[in-house]
Amino acid sequence: MNGHDNDKVTIDWGAATVTVERKGERRVLPMQSEGAFDAVGRAWLRVGWDVKYVYSFTWLGRPMLQLPDDMIRLQEMIYAVKPDVIVETGVAHGGSLVFSAAICHAIGRGRVIGVEKGLWPENKAALVKHELAHLMSVVEGSSVDPDVVAKVKAAIKPGETVLVVLDSNHTYDHVLGELRAYGPLVTPGSWLIACDGIIGDLVGAPRSQPDWGTNNATEAAKTYAKENSAFSLIDPPLPFNESMICRSPTYWRGGFLQRAKANAPA
Ligand SMILES: C[S@@+](CC[C@H](N)C(=O)[O-])C[C@H]1O[C@@H](n2cnc3c(N)ncnc32)[C@H](O)[C@@H]1O
Repeated sequence: MNGHDNDKVTIDWGAATVTVERKGERRVLPMQSEGAFDAVGRAWLRVGWDVKYVYSFTWLGRPMLQLPDDMIRLQEMIYAVKPDVIVETGVAHGGSLVFSAAICHAIGRGRVIGVEKGLWPENKAALVKHELAHLMSVVEGSSVDPDVVAKVKAAIKPGETVLVVLDSNHTYDHVLGELRAYGPLVTPGSWLIACDGIIGDLVGAPRSQPDWGTNNATEAAKTYAKENSAFSLIDPPLPFNESMICRSPTYWRGGFLQRAKANAPA
């Protein structure tokens, strides 16, 4: 099962409509509507997965395996929070690490700690000699290994503001383990992001697994939110919005956990 079972999306350019058929229900939506944008956006995300669209970007020279929309939203969250430390699990080629380091550089605050269990020597070398190397460090090992978690904690000074992005292994158990390990580091008002819950919508797609409908980051984030009343699952606010949408197409669907602000009512 996934969120798109039996979906059929038909675009009629002449009539300027998008028709969505799902489980016997048929809705004809004007193109100029959030519903149409949402349906076409979800179709675009699925096709994008199939053709590996997110494997076509770099950030300041390093491959970044992300949907650009998600990185713009992440930039908005970093700018709003202005964290001293951004912890990111899953480094791969280093593009997302460099992205966050670039935002830290631009605002004159913050550094990035990556966690990676299989850092390729060429990626390590590229990060070490990168222009923003002074703002990045990588702890090597599995993100849920207690020694690795302890090293990350030790690299954060008391009183520092922390934002966490989890982008390593996207299975339910692993992400829940990461949420439990790194969630306590997230400071009030900041974000804990479980990436790539999109896999829950991709059952049957190339490179997918049959259990992804439930074995995914979105489900782990839901469980963590139930366990921790300090965290709420909410879409990031759009600091500028003169559009007709209220959320972006995202690979990180259902993965945005915000920790309550210090003075928020319990
Ligand atoms: C989706 S890629 C990360 C992409 C990167 N954040 C970017 O935007 O370019 C996932 C990475 O997580 C790493 N990984 C998988 N399991 C891990 C684990 N248990 N601990 C740490 N890293 C892990 C993989 O080796 C891979 O490099």
